[in-house]
Formats: sequence, C-alpha cells, structure tokens
Amino acid sequence: MNIAIFGMGYVGAVSAACLARDGHHVIGVDVDPGKLDLLRKGHSPIVEEGIQELTADVVTKGRLQVTDDVGEAIRQTALSFVCVGTPSQPNGSQDLGAIEHVASQIGEALAGMDSYHVVVIRSTVRPGTVIDRVLPLLEQHSGKTLGEGFGLAFQPEFLREGTSIRDYDNPPFTVVGGDSQRTLDCVKPVFEHLPCEFVGTDIGTAEMLKYACNAFHAVKIVFANEIGRLSQSMGVDSLEVMRLVTQDKQLNISPAYLRPGFAFGGSCLPKDLRALLYMAKEQDADLPMLGGVIPSNQQQVQHALDYILASGKRRVGMVGLSFKSGTDDLRESPLVTLAEQLIGKGIDLQIHDPNVQLSRLIGANRRYIEEKLPHIGRLLVDDCSTLIQDAELVVLGLSDAHLVEQVVTHAGEDQTVLDLVGIPGRDRLRCGYRGVCW
Ligand SMILES: NC(=O)c1ccc[n+]([C@@H]2O[C@H](COP(=O)([O-])OP(=O)(O)OC[C@H]3O[C@@H](n4cnc5c(N)ncnc54)[C@H](O)[C@@H]3O)[C@@H](O)[C@H]2O)c1
Repeated sequence: MNIAIFGMGYVGAVSAACLARDGHHVIGVDVDPGKLDLLRKGHSPIVEEGIQELTADVVTKGRLQVTDDVGEAIRQTALSFVCVGTPSQPNGSQDLGAIEHVASQIGEALAGMDSYHVVVIRSTVRPGTVIDRVLPLLEQHSGKTLGEGFGLAFQPEFLREGTSIRDYDNPPFTVVGGDSQRTLDCVKPVFEHLPCEFVGTDIGTAEMLKYACNAFHAVKIVFANEIGRLSQSMGVDSLEVMRLVTQDKQLNISPAYLRPGFAFGGSCLPKDLRALLYMAKEQDADLPMLGGVIPSNQQQVQHALDYILASGKRRVGMVGLSFKSGTDDLRESPLVTLAEQLIGKGIDLQIHDPNVQLSRLIGANRRYIEEKLPHIGRLLVDDCSTLIQDAELVVLGLSDAHLVEQVVTHAGEDQTVLDLVGIPGRDRLRCGYRGVCW
C-alpha cells in the first residue's frame, strides 16, 4: 500500500520504518528540514534499538521516502497516518496547533483528488478532537464530505520509547476507531499480520482508550510505590509483596474490579483501606493516591444523588440495598448511604432487595436493620413489580437477572431507570435510561 506519515518523531519514524519493512511504500512528511535530511541519507532522527539499521535498509530499498510537500504525499497515497506532536500547554491542555495545521493541509491536498483517501490520527488527542476539530478542517479545505471523498479514523499508539520496534510488532491489540466500516476495512490489512486482535470501534472510544491506558499505567506505578513506601516504613519487603500481588491473576491482574459501576462498600474494602491509611499516618508515610480513594468513592454516591435530585422526580424506587448481589450484608453498603441521602432530601422512597426483606431476615442482619437502620427498614417492600410501577425513577443497584427482568417488564415509557450496574440488553427497556457514569 502507499502510505503517508505526518510527523517523523518517535511514533512517526518507527511506524514509517516498520511499515516500509512490511512491504508498504511510505512517504514521510515533517516540517523539520533537519529530520528530512537525516532520513534522506538513511539515518533515523530518533535513537531507538534497531531503528538506524532498519531505516537505512528501507531508505536504500526506496521504500521510505520523505518530503515537506503535503500535496505530493497525499496524491501518491491512499492512507495517511498523522503522528505530529500534541504537547501540553502551560495550563495542562493540549496544543492542537500541529494537528490542525496538518488537517488543513491534507484537506487542501484532497480537494484536487478523485480517489478515496483515509486519514488516521495517531497522535494522542482528547475525545472529540477528531470529529470536532480535525473533520471540519478536512471538509472545509477539501470541499468534500466525510464518507464521500475521504474516511477518518483514530488509532491509539501503544509503543513505548526504548522498545518501540518490539512494541510495534507486538502490541497488546490494534484498536481503530473509524467513521465507517469502509474506513476500518481500509486500515485493517495494514495491521492484520500482527499477533494480536484487531478491534474496530467508534472514534470517541478509541480516543479515550489511550488516556485510560496511560492513566492506568500511571496509577499502577503510584500504587506500587505507595505500597512500597508504607512497606518500607514497616520493615516489610515491598518487592516481595508486590510480586505476590501480581501473582493473583483472578482478582488482582485481571478484569475484576475494572468495570465502571457504583461505589464500593461492604465489610472489607472500606475497613481495610481505612486501617491501611491509619498505619501510614502512624508511620509518617504520605500516601496521597490511596488517601484519595475513599473521597473518590463517596463522589460516586454523590454523583448518583445529584442526578436523582436534578431529575425533579420525587417518587423513587430503589432495587437493591445490600452492597452487592447475593448477600444480605448491609455494612457500609453505598446503596444504604444513597437511600439515607434521598430520605434526607425528602424523596418519597421505597426499597426492594430480594435478600433484605424484613420478613425473611434473621439474626444479626435483622437486628442490624432494626437497631441501626430503622428509617430504612420502614421503606422495604417485598413486591418488586409494584415498587417499579409506583416509581417515577427506578434506581437499579443490583445486577441479578431476575431484577433486571422486572425493570424491563414493569418500567413504562413515562419512567426512567438510573442504572448503577451496567445492565445488558438495554435496548429492551421501554423506559428512559441513564447510566451512573456511562
Ligand atoms: N513518544 C511516544 O512513545 C508516544 C507513544 C504513543 C503516543 N504518542 C503520541 O504520538 C504523538 C507524537 O509523539 P512523538 O513522541 O512522536 O512526538 P515528536 O515530538 O517526537 O514528533 C512530532 C513530529 O511532528 C513534526 N511536526 C510538527 N508539526 C508538523 C506538521 N505541521 N507537519 C508535519 N510534521 C509536523 C515535528 O517536527 C516532529 O518531528 C503525540 O501526540 C504523542 O502523545 C507518543
């Protein structure tokens, strides 16, 4: 394939050399004449293991050429990857100047072309940039509309400096957010040979994915270091602790606990986190990230509460009260906190939880409700369907299939469900829908 690459920095130079090695004909474009000169002579402008040899090889074979002429690069190719820088501005926002400049230039070049061209943004950009900033410039300067003269995609780049050629050849996955299937079909063959899954998605998801991945990496590093500082202060070997933490592939290094939903609660996580933070205080170990976990968890409850209050709906039916499905344990349940806040705001609340029915509760849990939560106990109802039918707003706090079915069956068009659990098959709902954070 004939491919143009805009920006011959770390991402662009590695992509260009690897694509040329894989048999494509690549034209690299940059505004820096020094980089173009180096590349013309077969030298890579970046330092990376193996990149000098690879660049020399593909330049000698004529498979990688460079130019500062955007029109020439676009006219000779069917696919462009935009890898220009998106540096931080002093206030932390992104400088999109280079992206916008390139988008305008590509648009101008597309104006004179009959063939279809796909533009893939690979620079890291905030969600919305490709559709709200890049697309208007492409359309305005080309006089064409998306899907007719050109396609548009965003493909996050996962390579790491220092191991970039190896990372290029072994990515965790290839994710492309495209405007259409036609665009995805055009990009797919370029990456199909890689030993990973090719995932086609929408552009906004692909844009956010890059930030989510980098934030996750940063959080993991800080987590390990905070556990490290606390362990060190207590004479514990943090390297061994974290080695064992990562051995658990069921709950720790796994998709567990990584699905957006409602706040955590129950008898263990809040209690043990508080104890860990108290230990840190005793040891004079400052752990700002772990210290921020409980406030962030409370914010998730507040977020749901804010939505309910702003909705103006006064008759609320809450499905679920315990801290998770399959238990009657109410200790530190965030649904109890939410219920208490709603009562405090004068909301007309009813609650149904199949595991928390006073008629069925026994022993400690019954005593707990009667002594600690009598105000909640009074609102419990046994009949879920009536609760749903009576409510203007249904808060779904448990994901049990039979409870979801009750909402699907009984919530009508003039009602809304606030989904705290991410129910599947939302298209079956007749009522209005709001996800707690999606
Ligand atoms: N470096 C990484 O490891 C890495 C990894 C993943 C994603 N990213 C993202 O990829 C993007 C590029 O990163 P990088 O490290 O390669 O940046 P870089 O600064 O090394 O390279 C950017 C290149 O773009 C060129 N450029 C600027 N304006 C241009 C224009 N109008 N036309 C053509 N070229 C132009 C610059 O001269 C420079 O050579 C950034 O958004 C970055 O966040 C980087």
